[in-house]
Formats: sequence, C-alpha cells, structure tokens
Amino acid sequence: MRIILGVGGGIAAYKVASLLRLFTEAGHDVTVIPTEAATRFVGTATWEALSGKPVSNSVFDDVEKVNHVRLGHDAELVVVAPATADLLAKAASGLAADLLGNTLLMAHCPVLFAPAMHSEMWQHPATRANVETLRSRGATVLEPAVGRLTGADSGPGRLPEPEAIFEAAVALAGAGNAVSGAASGAGDDAKPLAGRTVTISAGGTREALDPVRFLGNRSSGKQGVALARAALDAGARVTFLAAHMDVEPPAGVELVRVESALELREAALAAAPTSDVIIMAAAVADFRPAEVSDTKIKKKDDEDAPLVRLVRNPDILHELVQARNASGGNQLIVGFAAETGDADGDVLEHAQAKLARKGCELLVVNQVGVGRVFGQDETSVVILAADGTGPQSASGSKADVAAAVVDRIAAELARVAPAG
Ligand code: CTP
Repeated sequence: MRIILGVGGGIAAYKVASLLRLFTEAGHDVTVIPTEAATRFVGTATWEALSGKPVSNSVFDDVEKVNHVRLGHDAELVVVAPATADLLAKAASGLAADLLGNTLLMAHCPVLFAPAMHSEMWQHPATRANVETLRSRGATVLEPAVGRLTGADSGPGRLPEPEAIFEAAVALAGAGNAVSGAASGAGDDAKPLAGRTVTISAGGTREALDPVRFLGNRSSGKQGVALARAALDAGARVTFLAAHMDVEPPAGVELVRVESALELREAALAAAPTSDVIIMAAAVADFRPAEVSDTKIKKKDDEDAPLVRLVRNPDILHELVQARNASGGNQLIVGFAAETGDADGDVLEHAQAKLARKGCELLVVNQVGVGRVFGQDETSVVILAADGTGPQSASGSKADVAAAVVDRIAAELARVAPAG
C-alpha cells in the first residue's frame, strides 16, 4: 500500500520513527513528509534512512515530478502523526503552504490524524472545531491518549502508541479498500459491512447526585469495545458512544463521550439518521436522581440522612426504534439484555417479552447473576430476532461473541437491504 506519513512538529515526532518501522516491516511503501517544524525534532536523515526514500517538505524540490499533486493523488492512505494543534488547524482550513498541506488537499484516500498536544490545546474550542470539521469531511481523528505530557503535567494529549496508530491505520485502509471493492463488486465477502456506518454505545451511564457523586453500574465497556473491533474488521465505519468504561475505547472509531443516560440519548438520536446499524450495548441507568445538587451534599449531625428520589430515564433503545419508524428509515437496531430467570419466567421468556417491548430487530441476551457477565472476559449469549428466525447461541471470549453478533447483523443487512 502507498502510504504518506505526515509528521508534525511536536516532541512525539520521535515515536513516529517506530510507526514508520511498523509500516515498512509490514511491506508498505511509505513516503515521509515532515513539516518544517518536525525536522527540528527529528531530522530528515532519520526519515530517509528508515523509509529508504528521499524526504522533502518543500513544494519547490523536484518540481519536475509535480510532487505537490502526485503524492496525495497516488496515496492509498495518509497518516499524520503527531497531528499538532497547528497542523489540525491548517488541515481544517485547507492551507497549502508546504508539501504536506498540498498532499492533504489532493488526497482522496482515507486520512488518519493521530493528535498530540497539551490538554489545554486539545480541549480549546478552536481545536475542537477543527477536529469536528475534519471528521465531518470524512477524516479519522483519533483521540489522544491520556497520561504524562512533555512537562510535569498529565491529561489527554499524548500521542497514541505507535502500535495503536498502526492498528487504526490498517483498519481504516481496510475499510476504505473494502468500500472501493464493494463498488466494483469484489471483496463483499471479506468485508461484509463495507460502506456501512455502525453506531455502538458502550459502558455504563453515570447519573449525578451532586458534583462529586453519582449512581452508576458495573459495566466495563469490554463488550462494546469488542463489538467496535469486530465491526471495524468487517469494514464498517464506527461511531462509538462511550459512557463510563474500565477499558480504553478502540482506535479507529469516531468517539463521542457521554456521561448520563440523557447525554447518551442525545448522542444516539443525533447519530441515528446517518447510521445503518445501531447497537445499544451500553448499560443505561433506568432511573436518575430527581434532583441534582449544585453543591456537594453535606452530612449534618442534626438531620437524618437524605432520601434520594429517583425518576425514570427515557428508554433510548425504544426511542431509537420509534424515531426510525416515524422517519421511514431502515436502520437495523440491536439491543442487549442482561436477564435472570425468576418466578415470572425463565431467561428466554423474559428476553422474548423485552424484544417485543423494545421493538428492535435483534436482541443479544446475556444471563446474569453475581459474578457473571459484568467485567468478565468469557461470556455466552443467545441472539433473538424479532421475526422469530433462528435463535442463535454464541459463547467464548467477548471478541468471539462480538464476531458472531456482527456476522448476524451482516446477514440481516444483506437479506433486507443489500449494500450499494
Ligand atoms: N436501554 C436503553 N435505555 C434505557 C435502558 C436500557 O436504551 N433507559 C437499552 C440497553 O442499552 C439495552 C437494552 O435497552 O440494549 C436492554 O436494557 P435492560 O436494562 O435490560 O432493559 P430494561 O428496559 O431496563 O428492562 P428491565 O429493567 O425490565 O430488565
């Protein structure tokens, strides 16, 4: 694959030498385009030696080769790392003062930005707007990792590890190639969700009581992450709605962070119209405190402990089904259910009733009990379909179960609405 590796002027440029090695060792043909500032951190000699190619950042070198047009035009993947605040701003504005700017404007292949900067810069409204602009144009902007930054401070802003960028880049290129493969009628089997957008909610919502306390649940987010990886592997573009999770969100997704059920509802309804599939794997709190205190609730010796009154949260899954039906859309909506058997019925009876109540097409049913499912690595589910076709069991690691769920989704989509 012909890869352009744009390197920005940040201290994390040194880590990109390892990323370049990962690409070349995997057999890719990589042309490195550092910015002027990047060469103050890592010199062109390093990039030339590691890529085995001449390196330039000027549009006035080798003018006869028309590099400012050719490199972007011929690229099959562009990766920019570290994507500094300045580089993201230039890319969002379409500035073309140097070779990397020209290349980004010419590229019609998947483009991946791996940001690295101080937390304040990442969180600044200007950077947020630039990231939004780039994502809305189809670029993938990874979330920076959280941890120690260049100085003594820490927070979001670290360059994701070279392996994570590599994994995201390969998945993105796979999705892009699968889209063109699907357009030409080839590769549909290998990438059954090529050209599809899948929205996945994951983790557990937190319902605030006051600025420091919340009601939460034990969801780890692992199943949602496994589903996202399986969907990416199947060639989908993935929007990942992350409530609280014990694990990192996967690389290569469009990440939306939420806290409460109400925030998740807003994010899910916003993502729905452009999604082919919505998977509600999040553990959504059914209730939230009726009142949220603006200040920390204090204990007082002369007063009883406070009583917390709860109110119902909206049923997001059900609302997604209603919104889809009202708009005449045709998304496939998938729910998850954690069930226990009780005096009113066994697990599958409860699950069938829930499937009918929610109105979604598929329900992935887990049997829960103390120590089962939440945070565990092994799981076992039954996939129920609203049309009654083939209840299907899957068990093993969360990745195995996720692959089975994604396969079933792909089969449903192929049956109902073939891609293209
Ligand atoms: N869900 C949702 N909104 C809620 C609660 C749940 O969208 N307020 C979604 C979950 O993401 C999951 C599915 O609904 O996909 C099933 O969640 P579950 O909590 O098992 O269902 P409930 O409707 O809460 O049913 P019950 O409390 O009767 O078990």
